[in-house]
Amino acid sequence: MNRLLMLCVGLILISCGGKNANKTNSGLPEVVAPESAESAKQIVDDQLNITLTPPQITVQNKTVPGFTKGINIGNALEAPSLGEWGVLVNEKHFIMAKEAGLDHIRLPARFSGNAMKEAPYTIEPQFWELVDDAVNLAVQHGLGIILDLHHYEEMASRPRDHIERFKALWRQIAEHYKDQPKNVAFELINEPCGALTVDILNPLMKETLEIVRQSNPDRIVFIDCYFWANTEWLDDMDVSFFDENTVATFHMYQPILFTHQGAPWMDPEYQVAQVIFPGPPLAPVEITGPALSNAWSADWLNAYNTLEAKDNPSGPKTIWEEFGRATTFVEKTGVPVYMGEFGAIDFADARSRTIFLKIVRKEAQRRGIGWAYWDDGGHNRAMDLMDNVWVKPVADALFKD
Ligand code: BGC
Repeated sequence: MNRLLMLCVGLILISCGGKNANKTNSGLPEVVAPESAESAKQIVDDQLNITLTPPQITVQNKTVPGFTKGINIGNALEAPSLGEWGVLVNEKHFIMAKEAGLDHIRLPARFSGNAMKEAPYTIEPQFWELVDDAVNLAVQHGLGIILDLHHYEEMASRPRDHIERFKALWRQIAEHYKDQPKNVAFELINEPCGALTVDILNPLMKETLEIVRQSNPDRIVFIDCYFWANTEWLDDMDVSFFDENTVATFHMYQPILFTHQGAPWMDPEYQVAQVIFPGPPLAPVEITGPALSNAWSADWLNAYNTLEAKDNPSGPKTIWEEFGRATTFVEKTGVPVYMGEFGAIDFADARSRTIFLKIVRKEAQRRGIGWAYWDDGGHNRAMDLMDNVWVKPVADALFKD
């Protein structure tokens, strides 16, 4: 990400608070080298010898056909302006995705930044062209695509002022794509957060779904739970109006001090480098500055430094807890779930990334939950479009058993 992108993402995320906020640099702790390369390898291997026996699954998710394995083409159409975040949608994205065996793309798109501010809130023709091109490429290459309304920032800060505009955008999107094949799907809003609290969000999703259904009676519609699509908020979704083509979405970034370590758009306590997966680290990370003054990060890092791998918060236990909540939701509601984003930042070491991503990906599949990796060319980069190759630690996790 360039500096402008970092700034923009920072500002967006500040406006939501919570999962992400602005960054300042705190002193990054040095990781003390182990006595020898040999002992380092032994320690790491011991950590991996944890019993990877996942918990029993009480109920299988109803997998959404055509949306089993995917990738987000992020930082392109949800950027404030075309190319501002360094990624443009390219046919290569679709070719590489198809060749790798993926069945769909999730396309974050900032419709709200490309439409009139006043009624009738008309979406700009140039923006339709960009989204249409992506939809056509997906269809041509035999891939599903989720049109995800991303970064409607005012919905997180002043939702009541934007409800009519939000609905008007969806009336247009639904009408525009009503004749597309069934594997063109909609996602009503990415990661609702901030002031778009469940008391506003739930009725808004109901009313918006009704609007979409007027022109698209059978289209698959994904609806994110509150607080950045965090599994802890799945239970707060009103699912009473969901029909058989409506799917609940969550995102999976836990343990977040591992997946978002050093992320420029995150709060100062996230600026702790070299958090590995699974923990504990070879030498404890030093807990100083904002990481120490925030109780939650201090507690987490203490546990990370000390607990053996099977109980470590940077370990499979955390992943299973996340998926456990998703499965409990499926069991209680009968509503299918989908994991629209998961990823780990490039700053994490390659081996840890592969281990983490592979456990998440396989656990999703074991439970029948479709997934989309975040992202193609941002801070969690998976694709190198110059050389048409996948970034190895990500490819190893997504495509190798
Ligand atoms: C945001 C990105 C961010 C990612 C991981 C996405 O939903 O749009 O800006 O990089 O989550 O935090």
